[in-house]
Amino acid sequence: MLRSIVLGIGSYLPERVVTNDDMARMVDTSDEWIRERTGITRRHFAAEGEATSDLAVAASLRAIEAAGIDRNSIDLVLVATSTPDNTFPATATAVQRKLGLPVGIAFDLQAVCAGFAYAISVADALLVTGRARRALVIGAETFSRILDFEDRGTCVLFGDGAGAVVLAAAEQPGHVGDRGVLATALGADGRQYDHLYVDGGVSSTQTTGVLRMNGREVFRHAVQRLSEAAIEVVAKAGLRLADIDYLVPHQANRRIIEAVGKRLDIAPDQVIVTVDRHANTSAASIPLALDVAVKDGRIGEGDLLVLNAMGGGFTWGAALLRW
Ligand code: ACO
Repeated sequence: MLRSIVLGIGSYLPERVVTNDDMARMVDTSDEWIRERTGITRRHFAAEGEATSDLAVAASLRAIEAAGIDRNSIDLVLVATSTPDNTFPATATAVQRKLGLPVGIAFDLQAVCAGFAYAISVADALLVTGRARRALVIGAETFSRILDFEDRGTCVLFGDGAGAVVLAAAEQPGHVGDRGVLATALGADGRQYDHLYVDGGVSSTQTTGVLRMNGREVFRHAVQRLSEAAIEVVAKAGLRLADIDYLVPHQANRRIIEAVGKRLDIAPDQVIVTVDRHANTSAASIPLALDVAVKDGRIGEGDLLVLNAMGGGFTWGAALLRW
């Protein structure tokens, strides 16, 4: 049967590093408060004129190089983002143009911090049904553009960045030992719309708006939904959580990640944590974390991974894949 296999991964963080002390010069906060409540030590902000598609392109070039493929074979570009370059066309088409990719399918997907989990699931559906053969699946964000730098409860939590994987359809024997995406699980609950949102938009205010959040509610739901999504996706493949090698969760907050690890009874050294170095980069956070763990040699071929995320909406999702 056809499975969607990762051929290569790459990521990119903008040059400008903003430390917690830098944030403390903007709002009434401290390095100590941010570290204790979130685990974050720094974030990266895009330069003036640096767009989400630029971050996406930088990450994609690294992913394509790691995959060792001819970029002309890419027939699907999927960008998970809530901070597109423009209202339209899709940032995916800007990436397609900047990379000089051939005609194919290209579109954006908006599921906020769950965007990458959603994008893996959608790309997988297109690949295993033969509607595309090689996909560039990207999570890219410039959240610094939608932060209220007078709201200390939110502006310290987010950063900019991008991560990308080349996902390709490949024949596999058809059992749980296969490489590639083995199962995905997605969900959304629009009743929770008001807990995490941007207070502007094209059809409502004709402005971009800034991020608003009810932190406590987000925290509570995040622990629950991230845990449930991981349990569901493993069960779908007929496996147990004890079978997985690594959990690669959305990087929002170290305390959320630790609570999920505990709830799932996964040892801390099997949970990938990179939120300290780039803060919450929304849809980019999973591929950023994944790239670090692949590059430092923790994740290697044959490892069984669960990726799980939750974001505004609320939306959530998980993917079970063998590297
Ligand atoms: N620096 C200093 N003090 C602050 C800051 C700050 N940056 N932000 C808030 N405070 C203050 C508050 O004003 C409050 O003061 P008060 O008691 O005098 O009113 C105090 O700290 C405690 O505030 P709480 O909101 O109760 O703090 P809490 O322990 O809940 O931590 C946090 C807040 C970090 C936002 C937490 O709720 C959280 O992590 N929530 C999840 C948010 C998240 O990760 N969102 C990402 C998007 S969603 C996702 O990706 C899953």
